[in-house]
Amino acid sequence: MEVIHTVRDLRRRLAGEGAVGLVPTMGSLHEGHLSLVRSARTLASCVVTSVFVNRLQFGPGEDFERYPRDLSEDTRLLGAAGCQVVFAPDESEMYPVPQRFLVEPPELQHELEGAIRPGHFRGVCTVVLKLINMVHPQVALFGKKDYQQWTLLREMVGALSLPVRMVSGETMRADDGLALSSRNAYLSPEQRSEAPRLQRVLRTVAAGIKAGAARGDLLTAASAELAAHGWQVDYLALRRQSDLAPPQPGERALVLLAAARLGGTRLIDNLEVLLPEA
Ligand code: PAF
Repeated sequence: MEVIHTVRDLRRRLAGEGAVGLVPTMGSLHEGHLSLVRSARTLASCVVTSVFVNRLQFGPGEDFERYPRDLSEDTRLLGAAGCQVVFAPDESEMYPVPQRFLVEPPELQHELEGAIRPGHFRGVCTVVLKLINMVHPQVALFGKKDYQQWTLLREMVGALSLPVRMVSGETMRADDGLALSSRNAYLSPEQRSEAPRLQRVLRTVAAGIKAGAARGDLLTAASAELAAHGWQVDYLALRRQSDLAPPQPGERALVLLAAARLGGTRLIDNLEVLLPEA
């Protein structure tokens, strides 16, 4: 496996490669990322994993500075997962001049995550577009834990006619249900044992929806349960899977999306809910 830091070396390495698969990451890798790398290996002959903590998608006061970084451990894990190329540009390689051209995503960028993190999805879409242009992959893989990111990136690829196939990976979870996330490293032992409640309440809401209970009441009760256990809930919402618009009556493919803070750590999670035909 090679670790490459510049676009020039990357293009030289990838010239003549057949099918290239791209797994964009910000490093601090866990099983969620590694399972994407393994899927990419089945879809491409050369897998490129990018490791770049993208300042553009962090707001003022967010955790850009303290975001965990350990390239040598990431490289070790990627080698074991069968990745061929690690692309780890530094900021001056990714943004040699201040990035004044930005991808402007549609209205959904201001909702849910975007309501709490203004500009976040502009930063995500801009860096992913740049990575696609740098790597020229046939296929790019993203985890569904960041469901809204996945939705917007998929739409971006279609809207800008990018010649890349978009593939999603399921959220990887610890045995107690907590979605794997690089930010779990911030949790104290007490917070870590509380954290699986986020997925548990989503499961309770999903069961209630399937049983036909009032959706608003279910969401209110779930937020109240989280608050009673020390969480600050940013949002807990039911949307339709296809474009994250509020569901219309009779819509069957739904998704619950949540973000909440435990102390200084903000966790997000989601749960797809497929209702049976009426
Ligand atoms: O999901 C992430 O880790 C990041 O948002 C991504 C897609 C690598 C862009 O920086």
